[in-house]
Amino acid sequence: MSQKATFEFEGKKIEFSVLKGSEKELAIDIGQLRTSTQGVTTIDPGFKNTGSCQSAITFLDGEHGILRYRGYDIEELAERANFLEVAYLLIFGDLPTRDQLQNFLNDIKQYSIVADDMKKILDGFPQSAHPMGILSSLTSALIAFNPTSVDVESEEEMYQAIVKIMGKFPVLTAWSFRKIAGLPLDYGDNKLDYIDNFLKMLLQMPNQSKYESNPIVKSAIVKLLILHADHEQNCSTSTVRLVGSSHAGLYASISAGISALWGPLHGGANQAVIEMLESIKRDGGDTKKYMARAKDKNDPFRLMGFGHRVYKNFDPRARIIKRAADEVLGNLGIQDPVLDIAKGLEYEALNDPYFVERKLYPNVDFYSGIIYRALGIPVPMFTPMFALGRLPGWIAQWREMRRRKEPIGRPRQLYIGKTDRSFVDIDNR
Ligand code: CMC
Repeated sequence: MSQKATFEFEGKKIEFSVLKGSEKELAIDIGQLRTSTQGVTTIDPGFKNTGSCQSAITFLDGEHGILRYRGYDIEELAERANFLEVAYLLIFGDLPTRDQLQNFLNDIKQYSIVADDMKKILDGFPQSAHPMGILSSLTSALIAFNPTSVDVESEEEMYQAIVKIMGKFPVLTAWSFRKIAGLPLDYGDNKLDYIDNFLKMLLQMPNQSKYESNPIVKSAIVKLLILHADHEQNCSTSTVRLVGSSHAGLYASISAGISALWGPLHGGANQAVIEMLESIKRDGGDTKKYMARAKDKNDPFRLMGFGHRVYKNFDPRARIIKRAADEVLGNLGIQDPVLDIAKGLEYEALNDPYFVERKLYPNVDFYSGIIYRALGIPVPMFTPMFALGRLPGWIAQWREMRRRKEPIGRPRQLYIGKTDRSFVDIDNR
């Protein structure tokens, strides 16, 4: 017999069904709450206890530090898969065969040209713009250039919209940086694979005849992109699903997701971490001083790269990234004093009752900036790199939401404003 949860309100007992996920997680289905209680609602700011959907894409167990895409462990994927394989897995549900992967890549390449008129929009941005703002705007502008990709219903229409954005997004990501760096735009080279092509568009200098791919750089970038590719119902992904639920279209939904990711509490943390570590270094490297500030409730300073809404033991991505940071710096022969500051802060936090009691551990962004910098990725590009990695996850979640025909997202509220009052003429206020 299926499990029930009983809720008592004003002397009346109401039974709710309890749903069980494939990993035996339980969720109380409160769909009938308002009908059974004549309009009583629940309240849960930040959705700390609220599931917004049923999803078959990513499984995350924050207590045990488990993260799996479509059943595959993140560690195995980061070690053995390439980025497009993972993108295909997330979006379509299974790892691709060789032929499926080749067709996916061919379709993506076919659409990798960005309309030349998009450059005029890019030209309108000042050099002081942040690449995340540019990327969000250009992604939204794609709608105007691809109107048939907006209100898509059929599998074929969805597929076309997906391969188009997979093709154009690396170009837009690279261009958002080229603009602020004052560098000419590069259209890439379709002979290169997805990652080399992106790195060429981002990093090739105008006085360099050929972009030379560095295998250490490439493999570290692939690992980082895979680790960021999905993370179930996080802030930006929930934004993508919410915007998409109004049938606004994939590109509008992703543009909104980019804006959500930009914030320093979410994807913007990778830039904030390196800026924090740099400022600690400039200030003499006294980590204890910053630990004390992070614990002081009257000081807005937070230890960036620490804490997570769902990981209360460790972030499995952070473990892989920390190892990768050591490897990359070792392989490239780079000694980064900021890495020592990061390790010092981590050691102190892991032994500090404030952090231990609150279960605050380094998250994925604590070490990623250090690797990106060692790989030659400019600091303002750290968060756009996160966006490039997260793109397949956003697409997969949007597609799932549309295929499951989820209703428009529209939360309730508890009104705490003024009650009914009469209009007062301006002279009498
Ligand atoms: N430094 C100092 N104190 C912290 C920190 C931190 N980084 N994070 C949380 N706390 C404290 C917080 O003050 C609160 O203390 P108290 O219970 O005494 O009021 C307690 O820990 C719980 O924090 P919270 O803000 O209620 O937790 P949350 O789940 O709402 O927020 C978070 C999660 C990630 C936004 C937060 O930990 C944070 O701001 N971290 C720093 C930013 C960061 O690194 N973000 C990247 C997250 S990983 C990338 C991604 O997937 O987005």
